[in-house]
Amino acid sequence: MDIELLEKTASELVAPGKGILAADESNGTMSKRLAAAGVEPSSESRRSYRANLLDTAGYESAVGGVILFDETIRQNMDDGSLIAEALSSRGIHPGIKVDTGAKDLANHPGEKITEGLDGLRERCIEYFEMGARFAKWRAVIRISEGIPSPACISTNAHALARYAAICQEQGLVPIIEPEVLMDGSHDAQRCYDATAEILDATFAACAEQGIHIPGALLKPNMIIAGNDCPNQISREEVARMTIDCLINHVPQDLPGIVFLSGGQSDKDATAHLNLMNQMDVEHPWQLSYSYGRALQAHALTTWAKGGSESAAASQRMFAHRAGMNSLARSGDWGPDLEV
Ligand code: 13P
Repeated sequence: MDIELLEKTASELVAPGKGILAADESNGTMSKRLAAAGVEPSSESRRSYRANLLDTAGYESAVGGVILFDETIRQNMDDGSLIAEALSSRGIHPGIKVDTGAKDLANHPGEKITEGLDGLRERCIEYFEMGARFAKWRAVIRISEGIPSPACISTNAHALARYAAICQEQGLVPIIEPEVLMDGSHDAQRCYDATAEILDATFAACAEQGIHIPGALLKPNMIIAGNDCPNQISREEVARMTIDCLINHVPQDLPGIVFLSGGQSDKDATAHLNLMNQMDVEHPWQLSYSYGRALQAHALTTWAKGGSESAAASQRMFAHRAGMNSLARSGDWGPDLEV
C-alpha cells in the first residue's frame, strides 16, 4: 500500500475551500435525468452535458475531485482530449464509481446490498492507469418498520471495507459511502440511530480489513428527518445532530468527511455545511461536500434547453453553486450571496 500517495490524494481532495463533484450517475440514472429535462438520453448526450459542465472556467478553486462513471472516464471533452486527462491538467483528481449498484438483499424485502467486488482489483488497476486517484462505493440503507436489519448493516459494512481494502492496495483513495436514505416518514432521531449503527459497523469492518484510515474519506448523509415526516427539524438542528453523530461514531484519524446531498435542495445542502463549519465544536476533520444533485440540478435543466447560450448559463450556475459550497467550507456562506 502506497500510504504516502493515499494520504496526499485524500488531503488534496479536501484541501481548504475544496470539495468533490459527484458526476458519476449511472447510465440509467443520468438517462432518467436527461429525459426528465426533455433531452433524448444517449451516450453522446450524457457526454455532451458532462463535457460542458467539466469545461466550466475556474471551478478548480472549489473542486478537488470529480467522480466519474465507467462510461464517462472513457469519453472525451469537446476538444477531443480525454475527460480524465482534462481534469488532471487542471489540478482536479479524477475519481471513479466502482460499485455495480445496489441489488435486492436476499431474504430481506425492501433492503439492498451493493455489489461489485468481483473483478474489482482488475478494474482498479485499469482505472489507476487511466488517471483515477480515488473511488466511490455507495451502500444504501433504508429506514422503515423493522429495518435496517442487522443483516443489511453487516453485509453492507463488510462490502464497503473489502472495497476500501482493494482500492488502497491499488493506490485509489476509497470514498466510503454508507447512505441512510431520506425516503420515508421516520424522524431525525431514527436517522441518527441508523446512521450511528452503519458507521460503527463500517469502521469495525474497516479495522478488520486493515484499512488505512488517513488514506480514506467518508461520505455520509446528514441527520435529517425523512421526506414524509411531519416533524422536520431546523437547519441548526441538522447541523448539531450531524456533528454529534460524527463525533461519536467516526475515527479521529480520518482526514475528511464529504457529505452527499441525498435529495436536499441545493441551498439547504450549502446552508447545512456552512452551519457545521461555523460550529464551535472541536473535531479533527475537514468537513466538505461530494454533492451530485445539489451542484448540478439547475445546471442540467438549463443545459437541456439547448444551444450555446444555455450551455454557457449552465456553466455559470455550476460555478456559482461550487463557489457557494466552497465558502461553506469555512462557514463564510450567507443567503445574501445567492442571486
Ligand atoms: P447526491 O448529492 O445527489 O446525493 O449524490 C451524491 C452521490 O454521489 C450519491 O452517491
